[in-house]
Amino acid sequence: LRANDPIFKMSEVHNQTTWMVTRFKDVKELLKTPSFLKDFSKLYQNQDEGNVEQNIFSNMMLDLDPPDHSRLRKLVAPYFNPKTIARLEPRIDEIAKDLIHEMKEKQGPVDLIDEFAFPLPIIVISELLGVPPEDRHSFRKWSNSIVSASEGDHPQFSQDVKDFVSYLDELFERRRHDPKDDLISNLIQAEEEGEQLNHNELYSMVVLLIIAGHETTVNLIANTMYALMQHPSQFNQLKEDHSLIESAIEEGLRFYSPVDFSTARWVEDDRDFHGKTLKRGDVIFASLSSANRDEEKFEQANHFDLTRATNQHVAFGFGIHFCLGAPLARLEGKVAIQNLITSCPNLDLAPNTTPTWRKMFLLRGLEKLQV
Ligand code: HEM
Repeated sequence: LRANDPIFKMSEVHNQTTWMVTRFKDVKELLKTPSFLKDFSKLYQNQDEGNVEQNIFSNMMLDLDPPDHSRLRKLVAPYFNPKTIARLEPRIDEIAKDLIHEMKEKQGPVDLIDEFAFPLPIIVISELLGVPPEDRHSFRKWSNSIVSASEGDHPQFSQDVKDFVSYLDELFERRRHDPKDDLISNLIQAEEEGEQLNHNELYSMVVLLIIAGHETTVNLIANTMYALMQHPSQFNQLKEDHSLIESAIEEGLRFYSPVDFSTARWVEDDRDFHGKTLKRGDVIFASLSSANRDEEKFEQANHFDLTRATNQHVAFGFGIHFCLGAPLARLEGKVAIQNLITSCPNLDLAPNTTPTWRKMFLLRGLEKLQV
């Protein structure tokens, strides 16, 4: 597709075309162009305000354009900047060590995702937000259901959204009466003071952070470990030289990008885009994983190489919606893999297992990683 049909028509339904952009430079252009809208309600008249459940997605900053996007992002950005996030390192290290300790107690092969790559980021984001970590199994169900809903065949979806919202109702009520030093308590205070975020936006923000914290970093840890185990000489190189850890994470992000596609952009007005005619209301996705394998940008793009001199991938997106959680995800990835190679130097794929990818549209993660 990159060579022959880089702006690819995926489907056309009721006169609305869905496109996929696959080249690195076109992906960046798409993601930085303001007239490729996030907020599709701007295309339609008479939008009804609706309730929290109906609006849980349309009020996420990820689905808004400036000025609403800028206002919401400004509110949470200080909690996710590299300096603030760096302070979490000792706690992330402790969580990684505890999980590895429990994993080592088990006999025989273990699923690295269930035992390690999944719980680590969940515990971290739960503590940051102020959500009891023991509730993480319900969150896994809900957030899984929400990200799988894009597949279109998910009858459980509305029930799960309802359950998620009523759980949050209760949690917000508790934090309103008994605020703690956590992000949810601070957001509730911002909501009460008005101006900065409204009631629906409060729910959307928390749901976005929970989903982003649940469904992505697990893939960064597991996909990078999988790539390393598939490339034993580079894995050994990393074990001998821990200073390569950061470039291993960047190469893991590029090679097996945890988020395959950007979320949707909407065409504001009829226009030409690199030879294709896009109509108002058409939908476009950026294929981040394709851009990250574009030979025009990366030499030997299909080779996993943790010694790349530069690695300016788009695994965290580009432009104003560039991933807010990137410093946190990078730190979690680094601490997780550092601990694995130190405590389990002989870690390898379990014999006779071939990991399979989950069948999902937006995310790229393994079903299981038996080690
Ligand atoms: C946005 C990837 C982890 C929070 C994004 C986008 C990408 C992305 C590609 C932009 C989507 C678009 O433009 O359509 C990733 C990857 C992660 C990761 C690969 C892990 C390896 C996290 C974490 C958090 C987070 C841990 C926070 C808890 C967000 C938020 C946005 C976002 C809030 C929306 C930002 C905005 O609209 O301005 N992420 N993410 N992400 N991410 Fe991440």
